[in-house]
Amino acid sequence: MANDALFQPLDIGAIHVPHRVLMAPLTRSRAKQPGDVPWELNTTYYTQRASAGLIVTEATCVSPMGRGYAFIPGIYTDEQEAGWKAIVDSVHAEGGRILLQLWHSGRVGHRDLSPNGEAPIGPSAIHAETQTYISADSGMVPVDAPRALETDEIAGVVAEWRVAAERAKAAGFDGTEIHGANGYLVDQFTRDGSNQRTDDYGGSLESRLRFPLEVTQAVADVFGADRVGYRISPKGSFNDMKDSNPVETFSTLARRLSELGLAYIHVVESLWDQERDEESAAAIRDAFQGVYIANGNYTGETGAARIESGQADAIAYGTLFIANPDLPRRLREAAALAEADPNTFYGGAEAGYTDYPALDAATA
Ligand SMILES: Cc1cc2nc3c(=O)[nH]c(=O)nc-3n(C[C@H](O)[C@H](O)[C@H](O)COP(=O)(O)O)c2cc1C
Repeated sequence: MANDALFQPLDIGAIHVPHRVLMAPLTRSRAKQPGDVPWELNTTYYTQRASAGLIVTEATCVSPMGRGYAFIPGIYTDEQEAGWKAIVDSVHAEGGRILLQLWHSGRVGHRDLSPNGEAPIGPSAIHAETQTYISADSGMVPVDAPRALETDEIAGVVAEWRVAAERAKAAGFDGTEIHGANGYLVDQFTRDGSNQRTDDYGGSLESRLRFPLEVTQAVADVFGADRVGYRISPKGSFNDMKDSNPVETFSTLARRLSELGLAYIHVVESLWDQERDEESAAAIRDAFQGVYIANGNYTGETGAARIESGQADAIAYGTLFIANPDLPRRLREAAALAEADPNTFYGGAEAGYTDYPALDAATA
């Protein structure tokens, strides 16, 4: 067996996983229209990947105002909940485990995607220099300028996360991951480049962490903290993000999440061509008592080495899972890996989604 350290079982909070090759959340923009509903095509995709130690689903909107791109699934209607239940049942029938990544896009949005053509919402009215897509043929377009949430609106947004978690639980998910990474709403509150509020939800670090921790508590109240994880990208600049002291910000957050008893912290250490953020990784490993899931440009070998060195407990693989539905087997056998086609990452149908073959079929 190759990459031994990846193939040891692990308890991630209340979730027992047979090995440590986890599937990272991957937006694929293939929800059924109208209604942003998970459907049979998505069921096939996730079921093909059920041999992952754990699947974290694509980012899934907790409310229509959190829908920052077209074709993203939600978890705020009965139809969406039923679609997810079919996916969960199918992954479970194959012996897998699956968590829903709960998400609100915040200021990364567009009037054409909002329920009443409203401006996107954010912690502050700071227009991000980033892009989205609003239809199949829109191409990439600049996001719209956001409006800052009023203080008395925030409890309502937190409640959306709670209701979404209740729906996720009703759909049978093994747990949820809070998307606190990559410049979306939770991350926007966390970092001082996007949060310049002067009320209880901004200013000091403690205040910036208030919304993220209220969301986490709300979700943990539904699932139990030992079935909730949290994703961060401390030095990631995607979606025009910055913070004046990311190591302090995110190690403090990690300590608070640890105190809440969260199952895991999931760290995007490197996104695309970003150099691995060793400084934050070490500080967060130190601050968080639960399971540390590392992500970003890992191979079988580097992932196994990271676990052996004690710097991580498990590895989440993103792009490799797109083209290798049976990735755990391939890493265990040190088999050849297929390469994903970026042209079919977002949107479309089966091509580049459910037509990557598993090993036997690939070598036949
Ligand atoms: C097509 C695509 C979609 C992604 N969607 C999400 C997402 O929905 N939520 C999220 O937290 N990260 C998302 N990411 C980031 C990945 O989870 C992961 O952090 C990144 O691909 C780096 O890991 P890798 O080198 O193993 O691919 C996405 C990445 C890609 C390539």
